[in-house]
Amino acid sequence: MNMLDIIRKKRDQAELNHEEIRFWIEGYTQGRIPDYQSAAMLMAIYLRGLSKNETVELTLAMRDSGLKLDLSDIEGIKADKHSTGGVGDKTTLIVAPILAAAGLKVAKMSGRSLGFTGGTIDKLESINGFRVGLNRQEFIEQLNHCGVALMGQTAELAPADKLLYALRDATATVESTPLIAASIMSKKLAVGADVLVLDVKYGSGAFFKTIEAANEAAALMVEIGQTAGQKAAAIISSMEQPLGRAVGNALEVAEAWQTLCCQGPDDLRELSLDLAAEAIVLGDLSPDKALARAKAQELLDKGLARAKFIEMVKAQGGDSDFSHLPQAALRIPFTAPKSGYICALHANIVGRAALALGAGRLVKEAIIDHSAGILLQHKVGDYVQEGECIAMLHGNDNNRLQEANALMARSVFIETTAPPNLIS
Ligand code: URA
Repeated sequence: MNMLDIIRKKRDQAELNHEEIRFWIEGYTQGRIPDYQSAAMLMAIYLRGLSKNETVELTLAMRDSGLKLDLSDIEGIKADKHSTGGVGDKTTLIVAPILAAAGLKVAKMSGRSLGFTGGTIDKLESINGFRVGLNRQEFIEQLNHCGVALMGQTAELAPADKLLYALRDATATVESTPLIAASIMSKKLAVGADVLVLDVKYGSGAFFKTIEAANEAAALMVEIGQTAGQKAAAIISSMEQPLGRAVGNALEVAEAWQTLCCQGPDDLRELSLDLAAEAIVLGDLSPDKALARAKAQELLDKGLARAKFIEMVKAQGGDSDFSHLPQAALRIPFTAPKSGYICALHANIVGRAALALGAGRLVKEAIIDHSAGILLQHKVGDYVQEGECIAMLHGNDNNRLQEANALMARSVFIETTAPPNLIS
């Protein structure tokens, strides 16, 4: 078998088999197959696509390229959650403790994302003392005692994905549904939870720009999970405007905490409950979605999820007094340029404004400013008077605040009539 024949086969639209996909992934991870051949292969896949069988084979080969987490020492049903990412998405911080309070074991490894705002791990690191680098024994012990552990993804987990993602980034092959599905699911399957709930987002601030693309990716990922023996379900949710009101790491932790205290924004609460309900059904803790949602709501409203969050933060060395979260030195209001209804608040541009403030990173070495970000005072559908504050920008550098303010002006569209269909 040789790589040239495998590339040629995909280029000519034939279906690759198990051995060919393994030959590529193992050879590439172990350095026998050069970048240029993998790049050609990625482009062939981008242009020709992959069948469901090929996508499953690719995912499993990527999963097997590194260590798999052995969760067998954890009692009970292990649950995991994944979001394809968005602006202001802090649902993990709410869903994970709800599920732990429900009796599931939430074993979650998260990344430090590149882009608008930090990943879950960056958000958690804005909590003073919070340790994201648990070793295996600590992870297992915490799961057995507390029911939830959130830690940074280790380099040994699906290393083929790390290599391939960097190559996709450099070869304009990121936007391929089978490659995205294989990338996400290889990492999820390497963690190996019994139950996985996916939040697949569409819209201006999401990976998938249309609901159809999000649906297609969600169905594929659920099918991959099920084929590999994992119970999986997906929710499709909008990312046209940011989720909740806070964008930026410490601000998002504070908003997640408010939501756990039943004082958070409705859209964030509702999506978190929907995701929790899916996992509760998959985990066989409830016979149907309505009962599962009622259970999730009760755990939230009675403060049991809140107590789990505090338990987790303390177990991982963090300061559970959230009034100590880092605060930016400077704040400037972004004001309405005219009176009217907010008809759009484009999440991608709000995300770029947060990035300009230092809340995200463009290169992986960049250092995040945990205190920086944006607090929205108004969202789509609200009426604002000219000069009224739409968002408070939090930062530590005047030039960055001015840059963010200019970007915010491009994110907002104000009309004299209310939007006919509220874009949520
Ligand atoms: N997230 C991932 O982990 N991989 C992709 O390819 C896209 C989003």
